[in-house]
Amino acid sequence: MHLLLVLPFVLEVQSRSMNLNFTCDCTCHTELKTANCSSSNYTHLPTFLPPFTEQLDLSFNHLKAIKSRAFQNTRRIRILLLNDNVISVLSKGAFSLLESLLRLDLSRNRISSLSEGFSLGLGSLRELSLAENRLTILENSCFVHLDILQRLNLSHNGVKTIKMRAFGSMSTLRQVQLDWNNITILKNGIFSMLRNLEVLNLRHNQINCLDVGVLSPLISLALLDLTNNNLSSIQFKTFLSLNTYSTHIMLHGNPWKCDCDLQRVFRKLCNVKRLFLDDYDNLTCSNLDEIHGYYTMGLDTELCIAEMVTVLVITITVVITVVAAIVMAEKKRKNKNKEKHWTEVSEYSCASQD
Ligand SMILES: *[C@@H]1O[C@H](CO)[C@@H](O)[C@H](O)[C@H]1NC(C)=O
Ligand SMILES: *[C@@H]1O[C@H](CO)[C@@H](O)[C@H](O)[C@H]1NC(C)=O
Repeated sequence: MHLLLVLPFVLEVQSRSMNLNFTCDCTCHTELKTANCSSSNYTHLPTFLPPFTEQLDLSFNHLKAIKSRAFQNTRRIRILLLNDNVISVLSKGAFSLLESLLRLDLSRNRISSLSEGFSLGLGSLRELSLAENRLTILENSCFVHLDILQRLNLSHNGVKTIKMRAFGSMSTLRQVQLDWNNITILKNGIFSMLRNLEVLNLRHNQINCLDVGVLSPLISLALLDLTNNNLSSIQFKTFLSLNTYSTHIMLHGNPWKCDCDLQRVFRKLCNVKRLFLDDYDNLTCSNLDEIHGYYTMGLDTELCIAEMVTVLVITITVVITVVAAIVMAEKKRKNKNKEKHWTEVSEYSCASQD
């Protein structure tokens, strides 16, 4: 009986010591299936890692490149942290052996371009961060193998150009962070496949123009953040074309050129039930600052007053003219009648005198 109670413990201790036989260059944890190689001055991938590793942390090292078919011996990795290295080269198929990879963090490296082959084999990836790198162009097909990616972080790069089919295959994408880049124009078609996109973060770019139809494919969009860009005007149709259930739109920190036309656009937008201009009261006008001091679009509703006065003046003028004309005509008619009467009377008198 005693032996039976003790047996499981003996077995467990044995299995643990067996697992310790796996060579591990880093701090490896058998049960958690983790290998922590963070901050260890690696310039190349560590040689010995347990094959069962599911979470590999290689952050804060000095890795410069990831070669083709790297991670040969650790193919079960689900989470791979490569952030805070000096990686500038991702060879074709660098991650192609990692068919279980769910999350890949490449933030704070020196990646300046992504080839089509970079995403080879990443068909399970859900979350990719390329934040704080040196990307300037998102080429066609650069994310082509990311079949079920949901979250993409491209924040803090130098992205200026998004090629028409860069996001071409990303129909499962739910969030994309494109804040702190150099985007100036959103061209029709660049978001055409993103029908599941819920969050589009475009904060801190230099966007000055949105093509009228560019947002229309985004039928799931819940948040569109365009704060701190270079927008001075927009077209009503651009936002009206968002055929969503409900979308919150952030627009402050833009140099709005406030005039009657723009105010009318915003008034109409405010009346579209599914659109929420959350920071409407905080929109500041670039053209009216000097005259009016701090000037906001939402609070001041008098931008159309000049136009209203003009319309009023014209209306009043027209009314006065018409009334005057009628009065004059009436007067003339009366005068004529009077003359006629007098003529008749005089004729009559003359006749009677005869
Ligand atoms: C994207 O990356 C930036 C920069 O590293 C970070 O500050 C931000 O929290 C990330 N956003 C998301 C949603 O992960
Ligand atoms: C508007 O601006 C004020 C003052 O800067 C700030 O407190 C408030 O949170 C802003 N509101 C929105 C919706 O951004």
